[in-house]
Amino acid sequence: MLKALVCYFSKTGNTEQMAQKIQQILQEEGLEADLKKTHEIQAKDFLGYDCLIFGSPTYYGTMAWELKKLLDESVAFHGRLKGKTGGAFSSSANVGGGNETTVMDILKALLIHGMIIQGNPKGDHYGPVAIGAPDKRALTCCEQLARNLAKLTKMAAAS
Ligand SMILES: Cc1cc2nc3c(=O)[nH]c(=O)nc-3n(C[C@H](O)[C@H](O)[C@H](O)COP(=O)(O)O)c2cc1C
Repeated sequence: MLKALVCYFSKTGNTEQMAQKIQQILQEEGLEADLKKTHEIQAKDFLGYDCLIFGSPTYYGTMAWELKKLLDESVAFHGRLKGKTGGAFSSSANVGGGNETTVMDILKALLIHGMIIQGNPKGDHYGPVAIGAPDKRALTCCEQLARNLAKLTKMAAAS
Protein backbone atom coordinates (compact mmCIF):
# COMPACT_ATOMS: atom_id res chain seq x y z
CA MET A 1 0.00 0.00 0.00
CA LEU A 2 1.28 3.47 -0.87
CA LYS A 3 2.12 5.55 2.18
CA ALA A 4 1.60 9.27 2.73
CA LEU A 5 2.70 11.51 5.56
CA VAL A 6 0.79 14.63 6.54
CA CYS A 7 3.19 16.46 8.85
CA TYR A 8 2.25 19.78 10.40
CA PHE A 9 2.84 22.31 13.11
CA SER A 10 -0.19 24.06 14.60
CA LYS A 11 -0.43 26.11 17.76
CA THR A 12 -4.13 27.00 17.79
CA GLY A 13 -5.58 24.22 15.63
CA ASN A 14 -6.25 25.94 12.28
CA THR A 15 -3.50 24.22 10.29
CA GLU A 16 -4.38 21.01 12.11
CA GLN A 17 -7.93 21.08 10.68
CA MET A 18 -6.45 21.33 7.18
CA ALA A 19 -4.09 18.42 7.91
CA GLN A 20 -6.97 16.27 9.14
CA LYS A 21 -8.98 16.91 5.99
CA ILE A 22 -6.03 16.03 3.77
CA GLN A 23 -5.42 12.80 5.71
CA GLN A 24 -9.10 11.83 5.46
CA ILE A 25 -9.18 12.26 1.68
CA LEU A 26 -5.89 10.42 1.15
CA GLN A 27 -7.36 7.49 3.06
CA GLU A 28 -10.53 7.65 0.97
CA GLU A 29 -8.29 7.41 -2.09
CA GLY A 30 -6.76 4.19 -0.77
CA LEU A 31 -3.45 5.44 0.60
CA GLU A 32 -2.17 4.68 4.07
CA ALA A 33 -1.93 8.20 5.51
CA ASP A 34 -0.17 9.07 8.77
CA LEU A 35 -0.95 12.35 10.53
CA LYS A 36 2.01 13.60 12.60
CA LYS A 37 2.82 16.81 14.41
CA THR A 38 6.35 18.07 13.81
CA HIS A 39 7.49 16.92 17.26
CA GLU A 40 6.11 13.42 16.68
CA ILE A 41 8.40 12.58 13.76
CA GLN A 42 12.06 12.69 12.76
CA ALA A 43 13.37 13.71 9.37
CA LYS A 44 14.78 10.22 8.75
CA ASP A 45 11.20 8.88 8.89
CA PHE A 46 10.46 10.72 5.61
CA LEU A 47 12.32 7.95 3.79
CA GLY A 48 9.51 5.50 4.56
CA TYR A 49 6.84 7.41 2.65
CA ASP A 50 5.86 7.72 -1.02
CA CYS A 51 4.19 11.11 -0.51
CA LEU A 52 5.11 13.91 1.90
CA ILE A 53 2.76 16.81 2.67
CA PHE A 54 3.73 19.58 5.07
CA GLY A 55 1.64 22.26 6.74
CA SER A 56 2.45 25.26 8.89
CA PRO A 57 0.79 28.41 10.16
CA THR A 58 2.18 31.51 8.49
CA TYR A 59 4.68 33.09 10.85
CA TYR A 60 6.11 36.36 9.50
CA GLY A 61 5.43 35.21 5.97
CA THR A 62 7.07 31.82 6.23
CA MET A 63 6.85 28.48 8.02
CA ALA A 64 7.17 28.04 11.79
CA TRP A 65 10.68 27.13 12.95
CA GLU A 66 9.49 23.73 14.11
CA LEU A 67 8.88 22.68 10.50
CA LYS A 68 11.94 24.45 9.12
CA LYS A 69 14.11 22.57 11.63
CA LEU A 70 12.71 19.25 10.45
CA LEU A 71 13.28 20.14 6.80
CA ASP A 72 16.81 21.32 7.54
CA GLU A 73 17.54 18.04 9.29
CA SER A 74 16.49 16.19 6.13
CA VAL A 75 19.78 17.35 4.55
CA ALA A 76 21.26 14.23 6.17
CA PHE A 77 19.79 12.17 3.32
CA HIS A 78 19.74 14.78 0.60
CA GLY A 79 18.80 13.26 -2.76
CA ARG A 80 17.02 10.26 -1.32
CA LEU A 81 13.58 11.90 -1.41
CA LYS A 82 13.90 12.31 -5.18
CA GLY A 83 10.82 11.05 -7.01
CA LYS A 84 8.50 11.18 -4.00
CA THR A 85 5.42 13.36 -4.40
CA GLY A 86 4.70 16.31 -2.16
CA GLY A 87 2.60 19.30 -1.27
CA ALA A 88 2.20 22.12 1.25
CA PHE A 89 -0.53 24.09 3.01
CA SER A 90 -0.81 27.00 5.42
CA SER A 91 -3.17 29.03 7.59
CA SER A 92 -2.59 32.74 8.21
CA ALA A 93 -4.54 35.43 10.04
CA ASN A 94 -4.79 37.83 7.11
CA VAL A 95 -5.54 37.85 3.42
CA GLY A 96 -2.23 38.94 1.92
CA GLY A 97 -0.60 37.90 5.20
CA GLY A 98 1.97 35.64 3.58
CA ASN A 99 0.24 32.28 3.36
CA GLU A 100 1.30 31.74 -0.27
CA THR A 101 4.91 32.65 0.49
CA THR A 102 4.78 30.11 3.32
CA VAL A 103 3.52 27.41 0.97
CA MET A 104 6.17 28.33 -1.58
CA ASP A 105 8.95 28.22 1.03
CA ILE A 106 7.95 24.67 1.94
CA LEU A 107 7.64 23.68 -1.73
CA LYS A 108 11.11 25.10 -2.47
CA ALA A 109 12.61 22.66 0.03
CA LEU A 110 10.70 19.76 -1.54
CA LEU A 111 11.79 20.77 -5.04
CA ILE A 112 15.41 20.98 -3.91
CA HIS A 113 15.02 17.43 -2.66
CA GLY A 114 13.93 16.41 -6.18
CA MET A 115 10.35 15.73 -5.26
CA ILE A 116 7.38 15.84 -7.64
CA ILE A 117 5.03 18.81 -7.11
CA GLN A 118 1.82 19.55 -9.02
CA GLY A 119 0.09 22.92 -9.09
CA ASN A 120 -3.66 23.37 -9.14
CA PRO A 121 -5.13 25.33 -12.10
CA LYS A 122 -8.53 25.80 -10.43
CA GLY A 123 -8.24 25.97 -6.63
CA ASP A 124 -5.41 27.47 -4.61
CA HIS A 125 -2.62 27.27 -7.19
CA TYR A 126 0.39 26.51 -4.98
CA GLY A 127 -1.37 24.66 -2.16
CA PRO A 128 -4.34 25.16 0.12
CA VAL A 129 -4.43 28.30 2.25
CA ALA A 130 -6.88 29.31 4.97
CA ILE A 131 -7.58 32.50 6.84
CA GLY A 132 -7.77 31.33 10.43
CA ALA A 133 -9.75 28.10 10.66
CA PRO A 134 -10.35 26.59 7.21
CA ASP A 135 -13.76 27.48 5.77
CA LYS A 136 -15.62 25.45 3.14
CA ARG A 137 -13.53 26.95 0.33
CA ALA A 138 -10.23 26.13 2.01
CA LEU A 139 -11.37 22.60 2.88
CA THR A 140 -12.34 22.06 -0.77
CA CYS A 141 -8.79 23.08 -1.73
CA CYS A 142 -7.42 20.62 0.84
CA GLU A 143 -9.57 17.93 -0.73
CA GLN A 144 -8.32 18.82 -4.21
CA LEU A 145 -4.71 18.64 -3.06
CA ALA A 146 -5.23 15.24 -1.47
CA ARG A 147 -7.06 13.77 -4.48
CA ASN A 148 -4.46 15.13 -6.92
CA LEU A 149 -1.60 13.85 -4.81
CA ALA A 150 -3.18 10.40 -4.44
CA LYS A 151 -3.44 10.18 -8.24
CA LEU A 152 0.07 11.53 -8.78
CA THR A 153 1.56 9.16 -6.20
CA LYS A 154 -0.08 6.17 -7.89
CA MET A 155 1.26 7.35 -11.27
CA ALA A 156 4.77 7.83 -9.86
CA ALA A 157 4.69 4.35 -8.31
CA ALA A 158 3.57 2.78 -11.59
CA SER A 159 6.29 4.44 -13.69
C1 LIG B 1 4.69 34.30 15.71
C2 LIG B 1 3.50 34.49 14.83
C3 LIG B 1 3.67 35.10 13.61
C4 LIG B 1 2.59 35.27 12.74
N1 LIG B 1 2.79 35.84 11.54
C5 LIG B 1 1.73 36.02 10.70
C6 LIG B 1 1.92 36.64 9.42
O1 LIG B 1 3.01 36.97 9.01
N2 LIG B 1 0.82 36.80 8.65
C7 LIG B 1 -0.45 36.44 9.04
O2 LIG B 1 -1.40 36.64 8.29
N3 LIG B 1 -0.64 35.80 10.23
C8 LIG B 1 0.41 35.60 11.07
N4 LIG B 1 0.23 34.97 12.27
C9 LIG B 1 -1.09 34.39 12.59
C10 LIG B 1 -1.18 32.88 12.30
O3 LIG B 1 -0.62 32.55 11.03
C11 LIG B 1 -2.65 32.43 12.30
O4 LIG B 1 -3.23 32.73 13.52
C12 LIG B 1 -2.82 30.95 11.97
O5 LIG B 1 -4.18 30.70 11.66
C13 LIG B 1 -2.42 30.06 13.16
O6 LIG B 1 -2.49 28.71 12.76
P1 LIG B 1 -2.61 27.53 13.82
O7 LIG B 1 -4.00 27.63 14.46
O8 LIG B 1 -2.47 26.28 13.02
O9 LIG B 1 -1.53 27.68 14.85
C14 LIG B 1 1.30 34.81 13.14
C15 LIG B 1 1.12 34.21 14.41
C16 LIG B 1 2.22 34.07 15.24
C17 LIG B 1 2.01 33.39 16.59
